[in-house]
Amino acid sequence: MKVFINKRIPETGITMLKEAGLEITIPENDDLSREKWLQYCKNTDAILNVGANAFDHEFFDQCPNVKAIALFSVGFDHVDIKEANKRNIPIGNTPDVLSRATSDVAFLLMQSVSRRASFYFQKVKAGNWGNFDPLYELGQELYGKTLGVFGLGRIGFEMAEKCKKAFGMNIIYHNRNHNDEAEKELDAKYVSFDELIEQSDVLSIHANFKPEQSNLFNASVFERMKKNAIFVNTARGGFHDQKDLYQALVSGQIWGAGLDVTNPEPIEDNDPILQLSNVCVLPHIGSATIEARNGMARLAAENIIAFSKGEKMPHIANPEVY
Ligand code: DGY
Repeated sequence: MKVFINKRIPETGITMLKEAGLEITIPENDDLSREKWLQYCKNTDAILNVGANAFDHEFFDQCPNVKAIALFSVGFDHVDIKEANKRNIPIGNTPDVLSRATSDVAFLLMQSVSRRASFYFQKVKAGNWGNFDPLYELGQELYGKTLGVFGLGRIGFEMAEKCKKAFGMNIIYHNRNHNDEAEKELDAKYVSFDELIEQSDVLSIHANFKPEQSNLFNASVFERMKKNAIFVNTARGGFHDQKDLYQALVSGQIWGAGLDVTNPEPIEDNDPILQLSNVCVLPHIGSATIEARNGMARLAAENIIAFSKGEKMPHIANPEVY
């Protein structure tokens, strides 16, 4: 079976696929245009996909030979799942192995913003250490504050657990379903969306993104948040309206923002949000650890190998195909 991998992944995954006797193609120059990417996809049975290439109507129409897709990500918002289901194509993903790493980044952003770490680092790099000033650009402490989690699944749980253990934070969350484990172990309290935005001192997004949630966090939400609130997004940039976020930050409607994902992504160099002292922006590095990336390579390879043997993919975004 032919497998197209659009970018090099950790060796552990490649070795697994080779040992399973699969015929792998990885382009030498892996910075593919959409057109070139589609060309590779047309000539393969299965795809192990790194990045946000859109598996949309056009893709499914143009690549009728593709029978399975294993994503090198937990998120699958770039896949038209309805189309995949219509054509009986399993879509594998990589849950769990990146939950710790991604929640670490949410925790890092929260702390960086609360103490303005990235702003101060920029100053030091610019040779501007500054004098001791009792009132200059002060941070805020997180002890005993309230963390609001939007989407309390595996990554949200890890973030909530860290916040509880490190800072004794109270946990509230809004989700499609109740998370019994979080309620039992972290004393997390289920709240409505309105309560979440009105009560959170730190509001951290950990939900899967759906198109209907586009710009859900916009001016009308930011204006109802607490003035001391820190907004953290490590999920998908589409969740927030970045212009409204900027306005909320400069007008003091909210206190700060930590973003590992931006809207648009990548962020534009001249986005004024980058100039603010109460913001930290990272380039979507949630899963960028050796451990998480090795785990993702293993899970993606397991998915492809299972498919090649006529078995169900063990880590799947659309289990309804089976
Ligand atoms: C994921 O796995 O969904 C990460 O955001 C990387 O895309």
